[in-house]
Formats: sequence, structure tokens, C-alpha cells
Amino acid sequence: MSPLSDGSSVDEVVLRAEGIAKRFGAVVALRDVNLHLRRGEVLGVVGDNGAGKSTLVKIVTGYHAPDRGRLFLDGKEVRFRSVQDARRQGIETVFQDLALVNELSVYHNLFLNREATRGGRLRFLANRQMRAQARRYLDEIEVDIPSVDTPVEKLSGGQRQAIAVARATRQPGVKILLLDEPLAAMGAKETSLIIQLVKGLARQRGVSMLVIDHNYTHLFELCDRVNVIQQGRVTLDKAIAETSLSELTDFMVQSYRSQVGRGRAGG
Ligand SMILES: Nc1ncnc2c1ncn2[C@@H]1O[C@H](COP(=O)(O)OP(=O)(O)OP(=O)(O)O)[C@@H](O)[C@H]1O
Ligand SMILES: [Mg+2]
Repeated sequence: MSPLSDGSSVDEVVLRAEGIAKRFGAVVALRDVNLHLRRGEVLGVVGDNGAGKSTLVKIVTGYHAPDRGRLFLDGKEVRFRSVQDARRQGIETVFQDLALVNELSVYHNLFLNREATRGGRLRFLANRQMRAQARRYLDEIEVDIPSVDTPVEKLSGGQRQAIAVARATRQPGVKILLLDEPLAAMGAKETSLIIQLVKGLARQRGVSMLVIDHNYTHLFELCDRVNVIQQGRVTLDKAIAETSLSELTDFMVQSYRSQVGRGRAGG
């Protein structure tokens, strides 16, 4: 594969999860998850409601600690103590509620909690500098927002999602972006905006993406590879180019049938 601008190769594994398990009281959310994510790759994760997808994201992002199993980042074992800890090591997440502040402008949101500061003790915000940087960055990643002064509450859902993604990937050193149902409740135009943005960031910046989505059509448009999670395990791992919508649908239906069958047999 072709080398990226920093000389590394796009096919190298950035993240590896080995034997990850997590339970909440009597509920086993994850039993034994093994997966990997390559540099600049978009990995789709699918599975039924309650299969453990969000739990997996929360473990990779440092929100939950796994009960068992190991995580490797660039081949080195990591144990995240918090979301901040994971972020310092290059793992960002766009949570379902987006974590944007509606009343604030686009550019303030892009710098939220990481404001550029200037001067000595006063550390007042360098507004002009932030605005210019925000404009430049959005142009660079081709996010079409007419004015960076617009409060985000005036933007469409798709534009807000784009700002959340842009914000998460703005810092240098971002290796992985986790997206938990980023296309939920979006119209066709907004969906295609986010798909193009995520693909572009993966291709151009080498950011690895782990995306959860229930819509297989979206996943086929967006992803390089897909993993199916069932009963706390990865049960299918396929390159998008080597599978099809009907194969994936059949796989899900058949395993659902066999689960129902086992449920009946078990009483
Ligand atoms: N904080 C928690 N406390 C207790 N149980 C939890 C907690 N988080 C998740 N669970 C349980 O763990 C299981 C997996 O949940 P998770 O949210 O990971 O599923 P999911 O695959 O993301 O589902 P969905 O597609 O509905 O978002 C579910 O049974 C859920 O009820
Ligand atoms: Mg979920």
C-alpha cells in the first residue's frame, strides 16, 4: 500500500482489541471481542440492539475499563484511565449527543475546551485567530458552512454533526475517531455530507474510523470493512469489497434464526 505523508503505511494496524469482556451486573455486554483497525481505514460495526457495540466504543474511548482483555495502540498495550487519557493518546469520540454548545458560534465550538489563548496571565481568547483557523480548517476538509460566526443551533443536523467530527479531528495526533451512530436521524443529503467527510478524513489524514450504524446501505457506502457483533463477540469480519448487502443480510437473518431456535430448545 502507498505510504502516507509521515512515511507510515496505510495497512498497518493502529488498534487491536484482544479478548475484551465487560459485564454490568448480570448482563454480559461483551464476552470476548477481538478486532483490529488499520491506519486510515473505516471499519463499520453492526449488530442487534444491545449487542454491545456502544459498550465497545466506550471501552476503546476510555470511558469504561474492560473486565478482561487487552487493547493495543500502535502495537503497545494501553490501559486508559479516562476519556481524557485516551484522547491524549489520539483517540477521539463523537458521542450521540455531539457535545456541542448550541448557543456558541461554529468557531467557538471547534475550539471548545481547547481554546487558543494569548498573552500572559490574562490568557484571553484570541478570537480573531480562532475564527481564521476555524475557517481555514473547515475549507481544508471541505465542510461547507457559510459563516463560522453562526451559532450551531442555527445549523442543520448534518452541519452540526460535521462540526462535531471536524472538532474531534482538528488536533494534530488524532489517530482514531469513534462514531456511534453518526447518521441516525439524518436526511439523505446530510447523510451523504457526513459520509464524504468521514471518508475524506480517513483517506487524506490517515485517521482510522470505527463507525456504528444500523443501516447496511450506509455502511457499504462508507466503510472499507465490516464487523458483526453478536452476543458479545465479533462473528463476522469482511472487507466491503468481498461481501455484499445480501450476504450480510442473510448472515444476520440466519444467525437470528439459530438464536431463536436455541432459545426455544433451551425452554
Ligand atoms: N452502564 C450500563 N449499566 C448497565 N447495563 C448496561 C450499561 N451499558 C450497557 N448496558 C447493557 O449492556 C448491553 C449492551 O449495551 P450496548 O449499549 O453496548 O448495546 P448496543 O449494541 O450499543 O445497542 P444499540 O444498538 O441499541 O445502541 C445491553 O444489554 C445494555 O442494557
Ligand atoms: Mg448503542
